[in-house]
Amino acid sequence: MENSSLPQDSVFLGFDSSTQSLKATVLDSNLNIVKSELVHFDSDLPHYKTKDGVYRDPSDNGRIVSPTLMWVEALDLVLQRLLKSGFDFGKIAAVSGSGQQHGSVYWKKGSSAILSSLDSGKPLVDQLGNAFSIKESPIWMDSSTTKQCREIEKAVGGPLELSELTGSRAYERFTGPQIRKIYQSQPEAYNDTERISLVSSFMASLFIGAYACIDHTDGSGMNLMDIKQKVWSEIALEATAPGLKEKVGKLAPAYDVAGHIASYFVDRYKFNKKCLVVQWSGDNPNSLAGLTLSIPGDLAISLGTSDTVFGIATDPQPRLEGHVLPNPVDTEGYMVMLCYKNGSLTREDIRNHCAEKSWEIFNKFLEQTPPLNDGKIGFYYKDHEILPPLPVGLHRYELQNFKGDSLEGVNEQEVQEFDPASEVRALIEGQFLSMRAHAERFGMPSPPKRIIATGGASANHSILNSVASIFGCDVYTVQRPDSASLGAALRAAHGWLCNKKGSFVPIACLYKDKLEKSAFSCKLSVSAGNQELTSKYALLMKKRMEIENHLVQKLGRW
Ligand code: ADP
Ligand code: XUL
Repeated sequence: MENSSLPQDSVFLGFDSSTQSLKATVLDSNLNIVKSELVHFDSDLPHYKTKDGVYRDPSDNGRIVSPTLMWVEALDLVLQRLLKSGFDFGKIAAVSGSGQQHGSVYWKKGSSAILSSLDSGKPLVDQLGNAFSIKESPIWMDSSTTKQCREIEKAVGGPLELSELTGSRAYERFTGPQIRKIYQSQPEAYNDTERISLVSSFMASLFIGAYACIDHTDGSGMNLMDIKQKVWSEIALEATAPGLKEKVGKLAPAYDVAGHIASYFVDRYKFNKKCLVVQWSGDNPNSLAGLTLSIPGDLAISLGTSDTVFGIATDPQPRLEGHVLPNPVDTEGYMVMLCYKNGSLTREDIRNHCAEKSWEIFNKFLEQTPPLNDGKIGFYYKDHEILPPLPVGLHRYELQNFKGDSLEGVNEQEVQEFDPASEVRALIEGQFLSMRAHAERFGMPSPPKRIIATGGASANHSILNSVASIFGCDVYTVQRPDSASLGAALRAAHGWLCNKKGSFVPIACLYKDKLEKSAFSCKLSVSAGNQELTSKYALLMKKRMEIENHLVQKLGRW
């Protein structure tokens, strides 16, 4: 294997433009973190009046959006903070980033001219106020496009056909259904749009001062890209909206260079004008890179605003549930993924109601209550859930006669409430039992060889304890829970190296001999523990899935 030859005195900058914040991580050539910075949307940019980085519109059938300009303003703010701390932008050889997946930005006709002539004397936000035909970007939490999903699936021959073609059946948050809704409900705005970017390619566009391509990996979160050929699917484009092909621009591999850094950043922050901007991608794919996931039996669990489960696969079978995406750091490989909407924000909600807004008390409750929760099972949907597709609501059940050795004679009874400690355990066990059940149904490794946990809540050891018992495997973590910005910095280095060599090089070339001493080394956090308990959890999971199936039949959207 070739040796990595990152220049010794250079650094690599990675971002994560996520739901609640914009994070930045800088890696040196030994792949150690030398700097990190964060802008939290609600508290650092309060004038946008977001809650958790978003606007929820309960009267509009699940519409959830974020102000596009807030992401623009956050970028200048995070760079200013880095500048103030004495950071030398001149050393950055390459920049890349992660965007929350599926979210879309609508550039108004004429905006490419604004983008290519940014004035370094003024903040971006003052110059891009009129650049968008839609000012509030639909994001991954939106669930308002069920009608468009069914229309698109019908037009391409059915949900499974769409999944085989694009890697997923139609999902409300996916960009294609979102674009179709805009085309149908705001045709003038659609016609006035010259380019549609994903959050990832949008941020890359700011950096290069021109429209950046959508990368193959994040492109697969749109229901528009042929997952095998890695080209736009004509039939999916046609099923979505007229004239769409020219609005989405070209696709590019994740390791490609999007362009050189725009003069705005050279003049304002003193970036080196040779600094490369490597294609941005989605946050989950970049987390896969940041966790250096390369063994088929490994599973990653990301506990951020959303909860996701993902792993790598060589020949995945797209299904009616879950997603198949190209692997951002392996041109032949794929990643498979499941996504839950009720992740950290729902855990926060229960913490606030039951545990005095304290993770410490929340954890104490988890530790005080017995595994299996004496048969208390809960379904907690603060927001419309993706997996399974259930509406907002709470459902609690007590299992009678459940000892964990058989389901014979075990009946469930719906109840209105649990005591606070049981409520906390029911939430956590419920979330991970659901993950295990759906991961097995999707054909992910069972039990996994190991789980690598990431995202904000992976800092919580008590939660990871439950993960280890429910999945029956060791749980590892990396130094920092923000693997999406770390992975983006690694991908910046990877793109830089591929550019230098003139073709794709395996990413492992970069961290060969360095992994153990770098920011990417994984450490055992919790051991698998008691396999008898894991078998008991398998029974509880089976019962839970029976109840879940009933709920879906009664209340589901499909
Ligand atoms: P994203 O990048 O998707 O916006 P993060 O990965 O930054 O989200 O995770 C943010 C979430 O992490 C917060 O909403 C918070 O609930 C959760 N979190 C942070 N610390 C803890 C903790 N100790 N226990 C559980 N959850 C935590
Ligand atoms: C993945 C998804 C979420 C967002 C969160 O399909 O919708 O995980 O990427 O940022």
